[in-house]
Amino acid sequence: MRVGILTAGGDCPGLNAVIRAAARRLMTHGHQAIGLRRGYRGLAEHDWIELDQRSVSGILHLGGTIVGTSNYNPFREEHGIEKVLSQQTQDPLDAIIAIGGEHTMMITRRVQEELGIPVVGVPKTIDNDVTHTDYTFGFDTAVQIATDAIDRLHTTAQSHDRVMILEVMGRNTGWIAVYAGIAGGADAILIPELELTVEEISAAIARRHERGKDFSIIVVAEGAQLAFEAGERQLVRASEDVDQYGYPRLGGIGAALAVELEQRTGYETRVTALGHIQRGGTPTATDRVLATRYGAHAADLVMRGETDRMVALHGTEMTSVPLAQVEGIKTVDLRYLELARTFFG
Ligand code: F6P
Repeated sequence: MRVGILTAGGDCPGLNAVIRAAARRLMTHGHQAIGLRRGYRGLAEHDWIELDQRSVSGILHLGGTIVGTSNYNPFREEHGIEKVLSQQTQDPLDAIIAIGGEHTMMITRRVQEELGIPVVGVPKTIDNDVTHTDYTFGFDTAVQIATDAIDRLHTTAQSHDRVMILEVMGRNTGWIAVYAGIAGGADAILIPELELTVEEISAAIARRHERGKDFSIIVVAEGAQLAFEAGERQLVRASEDVDQYGYPRLGGIGAALAVELEQRTGYETRVTALGHIQRGGTPTATDRVLATRYGAHAADLVMRGETDRMVALHGTEMTSVPLAQVEGIKTVDLRYLELARTFFG
């Protein structure tokens, strides 16, 4: 078999580990792996590299993706479908392994169902919001980076009696915020899934100070709303732009919250927005193992002809689900927030 492997959408730590595992597994069974460059653009434009033993060697620990990524959607680009079909006629692939988030899974399903190329999806995102899998690779790394940041903020917060706000990514879910917040011992966590008003956070900070704590750490997910007791709500955006999926570009809630908290509590407040640092660099050991399991399992599914599916982690089991089931987003299990709340204030 000749199998194309591609990475699409935003990058995340562990992509190379998936590529390596899938390619090595295919090679072991006598098949050929090729890397489609820049996501589905590589398929439409016949832009690919050979993924042989040599090219996938030494990449396990590397962040980013050796084949590049893009948001190219053949169903939306002018002549996208014709280009893909003409490449398939001239230089056919037997299957595609597509590594991406929710939108990539939707495109990938259409590639099999409408263009007739067998596909297997692999769920990636630091946001951990892909449905039907317990964890996406990249999430653990992002949480570790955010937790390290909280640890560092703790010492400087303590020295200066300050309130420190850490803004983390996650788009419309608060998985990174809630995990890093629990791991780092945050004094308040704001996520999109459950509202916490500015007044409630101010009260939690005041309670801490009353019991002799002169500093506080607050973790806020970029998609959380700035909410007030009186009912006003605001989604803070980095710009008026929307991305190619129609999502607002998020960012800035940390700074907006800082102004409100400083006014109400009188405590000096500082903000750190971690941004893309959460997505760069080397994956954690946990993500390397998960990505390796995902990659190898995707190759196994392709070789068995079990396509139109997404590999998935259920508990400790590596399994798969039909791509048709993968839609919407997986929001935070609120029991995590309930646990975190035990330590607020
Ligand atoms: O989905 C991953 C993610 O990093 C989100 O957490 C974030 O909102 C978004 O991508 C940022 O996208 P971009 O890289 O296009 O700025």
